[in-house]
Amino acid sequence: MSQSTSSKPLALITGASTGIGATYADRLAKRGYDLILVARDGAKLEQLAAKLSSENGVSVRAFRADLTDAASLKSLETLIRDTPQISLLVNNAGSILPGGFKDSDVEDIDNLIRLNVTSLARLSRVALDGLKTHKDGAIINIASVLALAAEISDPVYTASKAFVLTFTQSLQVELANSGLYFQVVLPAATRTDIWAKGGKNIEEVPGVMEVDELVDAALVGFDKKEPVTIPPLQDENKWFALDNARQALRMEFLQSHAAPRYK
Ligand SMILES: NC(=O)c1ccc[n+]([C@@H]2O[C@H](COP(=O)([O-])OP(=O)(O)OC[C@H]3O[C@@H](n4cnc5c(N)ncnc54)[C@H](OP(=O)(O)O)[C@@H]3O)[C@@H](O)[C@H]2O)c1
Repeated sequence: MSQSTSSKPLALITGASTGIGATYADRLAKRGYDLILVARDGAKLEQLAAKLSSENGVSVRAFRADLTDAASLKSLETLIRDTPQISLLVNNAGSILPGGFKDSDVEDIDNLIRLNVTSLARLSRVALDGLKTHKDGAIINIASVLALAAEISDPVYTASKAFVLTFTQSLQVELANSGLYFQVVLPAATRTDIWAKGGKNIEEVPGVMEVDELVDAALVGFDKKEPVTIPPLQDENKWFALDNARQALRMEFLQSHAAPRYK
């Protein structure tokens, strides 16, 4: 693809071969973005790239990478450093563990953290310098409502999504004057392959959202420049109430002495 000569904006999407990432790819191509699509399944990426570029007249490049693999991640980081034309990074790639924590293999736990946490933080950092050169530079991080619901799922996956939420909120503060926009999206159960890959039957899950509806709603939040987008949450005041309560709690933390109940 001719990134340096194209006048179109350029987005990089991780986990773009299926599900939420592939749907972002479709929607961003329709919005006139050139794309770099990243995942492990190179054949699927090439197929999607050909389809999106012929349907939308944009340049789409497939980049095969396993984000749990240090060398593979570094090669993607090099691509990002060498491509300051990227104005939007969508950190979407993620997976779940088959089974609960007590049944999980330590290597699987480590890989999940590399994918859901480490790669997301590293790619965000590497992309920053290029993103800052665009007036509309942005990062979209895909978390999960499980970031707010530790009781529901596997501890490692849930905590990895809490990382994505807190990380993005913290970036919003640290880089408030950078001109960059950071959005964190919290989907609930969404109909994608992630469930079957994790050995879970989505038909047993109540309230499943279709992936098109999820991504279209998340992009409405993006256009509004919402810091936190929770597509299934019907009453947004419930989020504001939680966030206000958290902010109020934060004000109580700077104390030289322990609370009386600890004495
Ligand atoms: N579906 C839901 O109910 C739901 C709810 C909340 C949050 N989410 C989050 O949404 C994001 C997208 O998930 P999805 O539901 O769309 O699942 P999905 O259909 O399984 O898609 C996951 C994507 O990540 C890629 N991926 C997986 N492991 C990778 C690796 N090691 N290196 C590079 N790419 C890798 C996959 O491609 P390859 O296999 O080709 O590598 C695929 O493109 C994830 O972060 C997930 O946690 C999903």
